[in-house]
Amino acid sequence: MSSVVTNEKQVSAAVTTAPAAPAIRVAGPSRREFLYYIWGASILLLIGEAAAALVWFGLPRFKEGTFGGTFLVPADKVPSLDTAPFNEASGRFWVSNANAGLTVLFGVCTHLGCLPKWVDQNHRFECPCHGSKFDIYGQWLDGPAPRNLDRFPTTIVFTDGTSATMNAEGDPIPLEGRQIQLVQVDTGKRIKSPGRGIEFA
Ligand code: FES
Repeated sequence: MSSVVTNEKQVSAAVTTAPAAPAIRVAGPSRREFLYYIWGASILLLIGEAAAALVWFGLPRFKEGTFGGTFLVPADKVPSLDTAPFNEASGRFWVSNANAGLTVLFGVCTHLGCLPKWVDQNHRFECPCHGSKFDIYGQWLDGPAPRNLDRFPTTIVFTDGTSATMNAEGDPIPLEGRQIQLVQVDTGKRIKSPGRGIEFA
């Protein structure tokens, strides 16, 4: 009997003195590695944002023929000299052809934004809201509008293969006897009139 007790004590001692099994540690990223990951992710995010911005600004934002984009006006729509300007309603512009040349006017009144109409018998634009009046070049004649009508940058392509582009002031483009093939109007960049004034007659 005492030998059984001794064996149990020996077994118990063996169990309590057995070396502990080594703890299994799952190696996680060190603090430095973690910071590297964060830094790498930030760089990737920045590159992604830069690429998205490039694509966004590189793509044309307005389709051709929609307001804000480019309009192509064929020669047969261009008015003859000193006749009623052509209205492209979807582009909100008028194409005028007079002695000083061809110009493209933004068809919105510079007073409070109504839409002046061409009145043929008076040979001028008249605004239905408060009576401002503008000549065929969009120059202010009368009424509360603070400045001439604004213009849109325009390029004329002629049948002889040459072309002419409106200057930064938005002055009419002299035709000099050339035949128009096409008028290209950029409704995305308005040339703001500096004020009232008659420059062209
Ligand atoms: S909006 Fe044209 S005159 Fe007032």
